Amino acid sequence: MSLNDSVAIVTGGALGIGFAAAERLAERGARVVVADRDGAADAAARLAGRGLQATGVAVDVSSPEQVEAMAREAETRFGRIDVLVNNAGIYSTLTPKPFEALTPEEWRQVFEVNVIGVFLACRAALPAFKRAGGGRIVNISSGVAFKGNPWMAHYVASKGAVISLTRALATELGRYGILVNSVAPGFTLSDGVHRNPTLVEGVKEPSLRNRVLARDMVPGDLVGAIEFFAGAQSAFITGQTLVVDGGAYF
Ligand code: NAI
Repeated sequence: MSLNDSVAIVTGGALGIGFAAAERLAERGARVVVADRDGAADAAARLAGRGLQATGVAVDVSSPEQVEAMAREAETRFGRIDVLVNNAGIYSTLTPKPFEALTPEEWRQVFEVNVIGVFLACRAALPAFKRAGGGRIVNISSGVAFKGNPWMAHYVASKGAVISLTRALATELGRYGILVNSVAPGFTLSDGVHRNPTLVEGVKEPSLRNRVLARDMVPGDLVGAIEFFAGAQSAFITGQTLVVDGGAYF
């Protein structure tokens, strides 16, 4: 499938699932804006070094000003925005905690990035989508929004909000040709997860045990679904969430 001439922003694109998505979209011909709080320029340079079209933008998705600047930079550099992958999220840096130990501040931090960050990026890209006559939004949610997960109530709730926001925006933006879908990953050994021993020790084994396809899941397992929602083959699909978890059965 070709994404030639498309311009795609991938938030949190410097590492993990986001980098894998940026790489895949660029391999399919998209010009990619790698948007990340850290390491955006380096990640874009890695892609450009392989002959792919990419540029890096430093952005904290919870900052309205920075997110607006990100969208402006994408249009200035590449002339349009066709695809927005809202992947930046707080997960791999979390320390799982019982519900009653979570503070309001921890809830706020997670919602600022995982939910308000998605709202801000969608809002910032909207004028460009309208000018282009349409667009694609791919929100990265999580399988835990359906199944729950102990000791991560704030995270689980934030990803449930992303799924609801996907539906809400799909109903509102369809008239502009803007399709909004979500990919819900299962536990994925991303760069961030590798760096968090609590997650590797606590979640890796149980998730493997409860997965039909009994191997570790890696960022590359998600890129097909993200590419699908970014491209022509999903042209009559909106408001949907596709769970990609190797057949987790609880
Ligand atoms: P990761 O930790 O490997 O990479 C996350 C990237 O997002 C990093 O480059 C980081 O700098 C960036 N980022 C974080 N906060 C940001 C902010 N405020 N502004 C801009 N960039 C920011 O993460 P991973 O594991 O690849 O996760 C990516 C997405 O997938 C997240 O939304 C996460 O919640 C979701 N997800 C991950 C799962 C997993 O098991 N790894 C499972 C289900 C969903």
